[in-house]
Amino acid sequence: MGRVTEIKHPLILHKLAIIRDKNTGSKDFRELLEEIATLMAYEVTRDMAVEDVQVETPVAMATCKMLAGKKLAIVPILRAGMGMVDGILKLIPAAKVGHIGLYRNEETLQPVEYFCKLPKDIEEREVIVVDPMLATGGSAADAITLLKKRGATNIKFVGLVAAPEGVAHLTKAHPDVDIYVAAIDERLNEKGYIVPGLGDAGDRLFGTK
Ligand code: PRP
Ligand code: URA
Repeated sequence: MGRVTEIKHPLILHKLAIIRDKNTGSKDFRELLEEIATLMAYEVTRDMAVEDVQVETPVAMATCKMLAGKKLAIVPILRAGMGMVDGILKLIPAAKVGHIGLYRNEETLQPVEYFCKLPKDIEEREVIVVDPMLATGGSAADAITLLKKRGATNIKFVGLVAAPEGVAHLTKAHPDVDIYVAAIDERLNEKGYIVPGLGDAGDRLFGTK
């Protein structure tokens, strides 16, 4: 069963409180989401493989550790997932970025796919799927199914706010996928919004609606 981790670092909690505020505008929303993504990436990459390297310091030879060079891909679910990509790339600049376009049909709440462009060697890469909102979990589960169909086997999901329903759906659909979020909220409302949540992440990020 995949692990579910709520990353409750004080800096993340503080920034998340501001991002939730309905009076926070798009500029601040964007900057804060990027900053939180960077902070989360630190935790998400904790188990990355390292290997011994020999480094000559000004004083002597030292046996040090460096990343073992396992290839990574960051895959945002459009649109709102885009808001987390640059924050993660700050720490892992060599990662490739794929894109999966999904939107929720507002009546059925079912995800509808409209775009998919992935690195050619996606099956060789560790994949980090990013989307700030895990509500019913339908979008994340479908995006991961699509990635598995393309050959990806090593996948993590990183979000900002989740509903318990979304966590349950995703862990059931993809028990091999570790989930990292900053908060698991109370519930979904009748419109499929996370309560208390932060509203529509894509609209707040891009200033639409
Ligand atoms: C939002 C959000 C997730 C999805 C979560 O996207 O960014 O992708 O809803 O809901 P779910 O867990 O119930 O599937 P939306 O469909 O609003 O598209 P957008 O990012 O383009 O605004
Ligand atoms: N998508 C969002 O952007 N917000 C929610 O609360 C649920 C789905």
